[in-house]
Amino acid sequence: MNQFLEDVLKGLSAKDKFLQSKYFYNAEGDALFQKIMKCKEYYPTKCEMEIFTKQTDELVSILSRHSKEFDIVELGAGDATKSVHLLKGLLAKKVKFTYFPVDISENVINLLHSTLPKKLAGLQFHGLKGEYFEMLEKAKTLSNKIKVVLFLGGNIGNVPMDKAGDFCKLMRQHLVPGDLVLVGFDLKKDPIKVLDAYNDKSGYTRQFNLNLLKRINNDLGGNFKIKNFYHYPTYDPATGACKSYVVSAKNQKVEIADNTFNFAEGETIFMEIAQKYTLEQTDELAKKSGFTPKAHFFDAKKWFLDTIWECV
Ligand SMILES: C[S@@+](CC[C@H](N)C(=O)[O-])C[C@H]1O[C@@H](n2cnc3c(N)ncnc32)[C@H](O)[C@@H]1O
Repeated sequence: MNQFLEDVLKGLSAKDKFLQSKYFYNAEGDALFQKIMKCKEYYPTKCEMEIFTKQTDELVSILSRHSKEFDIVELGAGDATKSVHLLKGLLAKKVKFTYFPVDISENVINLLHSTLPKKLAGLQFHGLKGEYFEMLEKAKTLSNKIKVVLFLGGNIGNVPMDKAGDFCKLMRQHLVPGDLVLVGFDLKKDPIKVLDAYNDKSGYTRQFNLNLLKRINNDLGGNFKIKNFYHYPTYDPATGACKSYVVSAKNQKVEIADNTFNFAEGETIFMEIAQKYTLEQTDELAKKSGFTPKAHFFDAKKWFLDTIWECV
């Protein structure tokens, strides 16, 4: 059975229905995510872009002082709009590196292959389509240089907080002492600002979530009636958990590959978490996973953190 089908059947058969957010990203999902990033309400991209454009020299200097030659492996690279500034800064300083963008979306990897050479003349790069750690292993077979792993945007936030330790320990197991990780964390802030970011007025986040039901219809022969479901984001400022659900607007049945799923009116499908952290929580996470926090970069409002961890 194909993995997408297997995961969808498992998620929709669970007592509390869920879908895995990595399946958001087909060509339509990628395009919608790019629209979300441009929305007024979606502050994480703007804050992290500020870090990558205003503190490029400091970032370049830490990386180039750490090692003369290295590989940058970006996990879940997306359109790489922020990392491009770091890559440009490294090229300008004639630092020797190869860029390995990793993404589960084939569309994203193809897009990077067609756009990066135009944006960054002379960039050595090799796109890898697949899961984070499988592709990190692949990058290691292609080059044995020190690895600098980029894990930007909301990607770490998509791992629930109680599983983030295991996730970071696993990342550490794929690396060796001296390797670096540059990871982005969305920090706790005014809960209204957080919730607005996941409920933009233009409705792109709504379309982005419902697009996964459309993808199940198109790729797996499902028959979700999209208009019978709606997007419902929540934020708990105490725990920092920002969660998106799709809710059934009525009692209904959905068929997917000879399986029938019953939905009661008001029943939810959990789609994605975007966990918010405090600075102290990120440092603790590093230490308990086998890393030492080496540097912290904030935007002017201190809404977002890019932190550099060294493998110990
Ligand atoms: C929220 S977007 C963020 C993109 C980029 N990091 C940024 O900050 O703009 C997440 C990206 O990670 C990719 N992704 C999600 N889960 C993945 C996985 N398990 N393995 C590889 N890529 C994944 C998606 O296809 C998507 O392009």
